[in-house]
Amino acid sequence: MSQQHTLAIGLEGIAVAETDLSLVDGLNGLLVYRGHWARDLAINHTFEEVAHLLWYGHLPNEQELAELKGKLNENRELPDHVKRILDLIPAEVDMMSVLRTGVSALGSADYSWPPTLDQVISLTAKMPTIVAYRYARLNGREPQEPNPALDHTANYLYMLKGQEPNPAHVRALDAYLILTQEHGMNASTFSGRVVSSTQSDLISSITAAIGALKGPLHGGAPSEVTEMIEAIGTKENAEPWMRAKLEKGERLMGFGHRVYKTVDPRATALRVVASQLSGDDPWFDLATHVEQVGLKLLEEYKPGRKLNTNVEFFAAAVMRAVGLDDTLFTPTFAVSRVVGWSAHILEQAKNNRIIRPQSNYTGPMPK
Ligand SMILES: CC(C)(COP(=O)(O)OP(=O)(O)OC[C@H]1O[C@@H](n2cnc3c(N)ncnc32)[C@H](O)[C@@H]1OP(=O)(O)O)[C@@H](O)C(=O)NCCC(=O)NCCS
Repeated sequence: MSQQHTLAIGLEGIAVAETDLSLVDGLNGLLVYRGHWARDLAINHTFEEVAHLLWYGHLPNEQELAELKGKLNENRELPDHVKRILDLIPAEVDMMSVLRTGVSALGSADYSWPPTLDQVISLTAKMPTIVAYRYARLNGREPQEPNPALDHTANYLYMLKGQEPNPAHVRALDAYLILTQEHGMNASTFSGRVVSSTQSDLISSITAAIGALKGPLHGGAPSEVTEMIEAIGTKENAEPWMRAKLEKGERLMGFGHRVYKTVDPRATALRVVASQLSGDDPWFDLATHVEQVGLKLLEEYKPGRKLNTNVEFFAAAVMRAVGLDDTLFTPTFAVSRVVGWSAHILEQAKNNRIIRPQSNYTGPMPK
């Protein structure tokens, strides 16, 4: 028998790094960004302030905040060749693939290893512009130039919709973007860190992370949540529809989490944000009913697995309430998570060791 190594399928329960960035306590349902409750940051701070916390290690003072906003603002424009490449991609290609290609087209020369804060800010500023550029083209509109008078989230909504956004929508989306900026060693962050650990450039690392986030078991779930709620259609249909799925051994989207074995604190915070925006919207009423039925059925079909509502369920509700359609859900998640990915990549570079696990060979030996 060949040499065997400790096996951890899915790397569950294995720590591959020490990090100052976030604590994801799945047993107690806690999420901390550098010593601050993520929930409090989402209520009391802005996208730029929390990005500053993750990148620089502390919440900014007035001058630091103005500097960061200025740098993000200066870097929003896309190079012409990136726009031309985006225009060449056929309309049926999904938005996450377009985002991955648009980021990749930024090239590696200005983003070479070791990663720097300037590189990270430049890329974070451009990702919303890539999504909005493509979205405008798909909707037959001339893409909107970034608006320097608007902050990051407001400008994103402005570019997507082609008009000044509603302040309540900006606030709600900002809360969502803050709550999803960072989340420990999830699959996309790990992918980004693995690539960066080879001393590859920032663009290659973030392209890998986008590829991982795209999968339905990770960031691809919110659009599947709205598809599920559309398919269910009425409160009466919720139980038979979900029961049929579980009978077939299929998963209910928006439930369960690798780390949280209790309520996902982001789901709790986003439920409040979504309900404030949605009021008595029948879709939201149906969604909360689907949530309750889903939880009851998961307890019945998967007893003891501790399956709860995850962030994706209410992410879908918030994004729908601010008027983003399904195609924008996962790209918008990427627009926020790039902050955490890049903070991890900066952290990895400070004390780099190539991430190179093992596999155990189970095939035959040569005769
Ligand atoms: C997120 C997720 C991938 C975590 O998976 P994981 O940690 O690998 O959990 P497992 O796949 O080991 O699941 C444990 C058990 O719960 C079940 N389970 C987990 N999530 C489930 C779901 N959403 N619906 C139905 N059953 C589910 C599994 O079938 C498994 O059952 P078994 O013990 O009978 O085999 C998983 O919960 C999932 O697929 N959720 C739906 C997709 C989603 O919402 N993703 C967004 C995450 S933020």
